[in-house]
Amino acid sequence: MHTSTDVFAKVRDHDRSAMLAAAREADVLPYFHLLTSPAMPVVEMEGAERIMLGSNNYLGLTGDERVMKGAEDALHRFGTGLTGSRLLNGTIPLHLDLEREIAEWMQTEDALVFSTGHQANLGALGTLLGPGDTVIVDSGDHASILDGCLLSRAKLRPFRHNRLDKLEKALDRSQQDGGGVLVVVDGVFSMEGDIAPLGDISELCHRYGARLMVDEAHGAGVLGARGAGTAELLGVGDRVDLRVGTFSKSLASCGGFVAGPHEVIDYLRISSRAFLFTASAVPAAVGAALAALRVLRSEDGPPLLAQVLENARRLRDGLHERGFAVVTPQSLPSEGQLQEHAPGVRSSGGAHTIVTPIVPVLVGDDWKAALLWRALYDAGVFVNTALHPAVPPGGALLRTSVMATHDEATLERALDAFSRVKSEFESEHGPLPGPEAG
Ligand SMILES: Cc1ncc(COP(=O)(O)O)c(C=O)c1O
Repeated sequence: MHTSTDVFAKVRDHDRSAMLAAAREADVLPYFHLLTSPAMPVVEMEGAERIMLGSNNYLGLTGDERVMKGAEDALHRFGTGLTGSRLLNGTIPLHLDLEREIAEWMQTEDALVFSTGHQANLGALGTLLGPGDTVIVDSGDHASILDGCLLSRAKLRPFRHNRLDKLEKALDRSQQDGGGVLVVVDGVFSMEGDIAPLGDISELCHRYGARLMVDEAHGAGVLGARGAGTAELLGVGDRVDLRVGTFSKSLASCGGFVAGPHEVIDYLRISSRAFLFTASAVPAAVGAALAALRVLRSEDGPPLLAQVLENARRLRDGLHERGFAVVTPQSLPSEGQLQEHAPGVRSSGGAHTIVTPIVPVLVGDDWKAALLWRALYDAGVFVNTALHPAVPPGGALLRTSVMATHDEATLERALDAFSRVKSEFESEHGPLPGPEAG
């Protein structure tokens, strides 16, 4: 005779089950739709052509001949898998080349390649922090950062997204916690596409003796003259202690890295459980990431950076003109070390702005967002949907994103589809938030 509840009970009755069932019933579930072609600016999904505005393939390198050859050569030289940890039988020369070239790119002493970006965050945070330490995170930070913090059992002090006053309060309070203090922020926030004010954040960290780690998943391969990310664009590379990145976005592959001082990286190399107790990435993934990084760091890189950021502005402006609630171009600090001439930075009257490739369209209501997603999908445009709890309640959004390889005609076609869908949608379901809500 036992009285414990079944751990499987929650799979039948969780807080999202009713919404999920209703979305399935109405055929508006925006998740798990099948891609049946290469990941390109226009793809085939479920038997129809769709313009892909829902990827992180910012430089469009997934179909680049040089990157495909990098994957192919690695596959033929090392086989399909390495079947073991980096520590044991899973390190190939490509890993070492990649680590050296990432460190050069990030201008850090060293770098360590993980099998995913999620594991890089887990591996860095779960190893460097412990129960006596404090970790201060922006509430918009990526889930893998939160997972790493929870794994570390450090004291977690979250602050409201981009609120520097709240960050300062957390730093002040952390002085009494008694351990080391680490602040972790996304360079570019993955859902909203906004850039963290790293100049002010690094200043505060310095004042309170805290270390700073920046997740450059959406900044590396996008921002800065060398595409090294947010810290490079804002001219604060030397004030960031650790950077984390992924190969699953601009670098057109899968995997992740941590870059920073040699002593820290070397410690992670022998102590990080997310690095040691998992298999090394498949050779093709490492080969593709290395080839993509070489394209980015060649003379072909800067035009790609300029193009993806120009496409972002075109998409943002087009959506704004068509009455959607999109963000205004982000102002960048004019004092300090900003790279004013970096790709995508527009200057006027002493002010500098940028639009990152993540262009969220605010919808508000979860159900309306799912319906709008479906209408766009049927009109031949795939976008991502962020519903609560990925965003605050009432903050549902469609996350659109561009690639350097979207041409003008394709973006115009996508914008036309948005226009058509908007008027039909609003006549049936009422008004969507307008540009003033962006
Ligand atoms: C900000 C951020 N950090 C980390 C990750 C994890 O990267 P990966 O996809 O390589 O696991 C992602 C991507 O999902 C991300 O958006």
